Amino acid sequence: MVKSSQASGFYKLSPEERLRFIKEFANLTEEETAQLQNMGSLPMNVADRMIENVIGVFPVPLGIATNFLINDRDYLIPMAIEEPSVVAAASYAAKMVRDGGGFYTSSTQPIMIGQIQVVGVKDPYAAKMRVTQSKEEILKKANDQDPVLVSAGGGAKDLDAKIINTTQGMMLIAELHVDCRDVMGANAVNTMAEAVAPIIERVTGGHVYLRIISNLATKRLARAWCIVPKKSVGGEEVVDGIVNAYAFAAADPYRAATHNKGILNGIIGVVLATCNDHRAIEAGAHAYAATTGRYTSLSTWEKNENGDLVGSLELPMAIGLVGGAVRTHPIAKIAVKILGVKTANELGEVAAAVGLAQNLGALRALAHEGIQHGHMSLHARNIAVSAGATGELIDLVAARMVEEHKIRMDKAKELIEQFKASGKI
Ligand code: MEV
Repeated sequence: MVKSSQASGFYKLSPEERLRFIKEFANLTEEETAQLQNMGSLPMNVADRMIENVIGVFPVPLGIATNFLINDRDYLIPMAIEEPSVVAAASYAAKMVRDGGGFYTSSTQPIMIGQIQVVGVKDPYAAKMRVTQSKEEILKKANDQDPVLVSAGGGAKDLDAKIINTTQGMMLIAELHVDCRDVMGANAVNTMAEAVAPIIERVTGGHVYLRIISNLATKRLARAWCIVPKKSVGGEEVVDGIVNAYAFAAADPYRAATHNKGILNGIIGVVLATCNDHRAIEAGAHAYAATTGRYTSLSTWEKNENGDLVGSLELPMAIGLVGGAVRTHPIAKIAVKILGVKTANELGEVAAAVGLAQNLGALRALAHEGIQHGHMSLHARNIAVSAGATGELIDLVAARMVEEHKIRMDKAKELIEQFKASGKI
């Protein structure tokens, strides 16, 4: 059966009803469903093995973004995030993108860079030649550290060296290029970098200090692009507004930081739901946004010859599907099952599509009705529920409070009484 992510009215359901829908969509077991319902479903003994000095767990809401069509396949997107409106905006943007055929994505091979810092080299330029000349020996030593990765088709594939000028004089930096397949790769790359350091010291005659992965993963990029029909986005004027919003971010780092934060709202929601290292991805994203020497927008938005909106996004994506917390955290395992992704590259591409959707949702709101409108509607719904509204009364009370610009508990209670007294409910 082809399952659609167009879960119309999903937001109107109760959490239990939504969970039943997801159970069906992703073939979740009773146990998995129960784990999602159990707010403390990261057992203490698992948490205690993940980090040090554990005293408890820190729950964050897990929502589902709907409507995603990526490379002609439907995805429901689990997002772990504390901020209101993000999941709704992603779902809404994915719906607009769907009208234009959905998202298209691609990625490079999953290659991470391991850096080995060499100081005190007398002849750095010649030493650089000697390092690359010893490539076979260095790659073999690196690959001996991880036969499992090598047997999966990954491993150290290439070696480079560069000379940098620093406050401490010239340094030679050797860089291992490691195909990480479905692991994030920090452990694999760091182990390899440490293992090859003695060879590098020998051939350069210098002293090795740091041996560590780089989070500026320029050889592990995820890409997403989409066409949004002008009528779906709200007309040509809104298209122009979004293109102008992009131009602002592209030209001004103060705006670019917020623009990129919006992209990361989406990406990190997915990254956190799958228990990946979100700091690595944020560091990579921001560094990539500054690779020209000036911090700028990670995405681009243009108007095509039909007047439709075209968006694209490319960024480093050091994400894993096996190893690390992805496989130990019970909820992360369920999130992966809901996503239905089979490789780390596919997961990275989905995350990029969600980032682009999030960016579209934010820019459309900013260029159109302003960002507070959506925030206020959600806030009003929460207040209506807290005041005791149920069913269709929630939307009626929330809409009236937004209309009257009075989003308060006393107002919600008053409206509930009024609607009930009117006999319409
Ligand atoms: C808020 O979390 C994100 C936005 O500020 C992004 C943006 O301004 O593009 C709305």
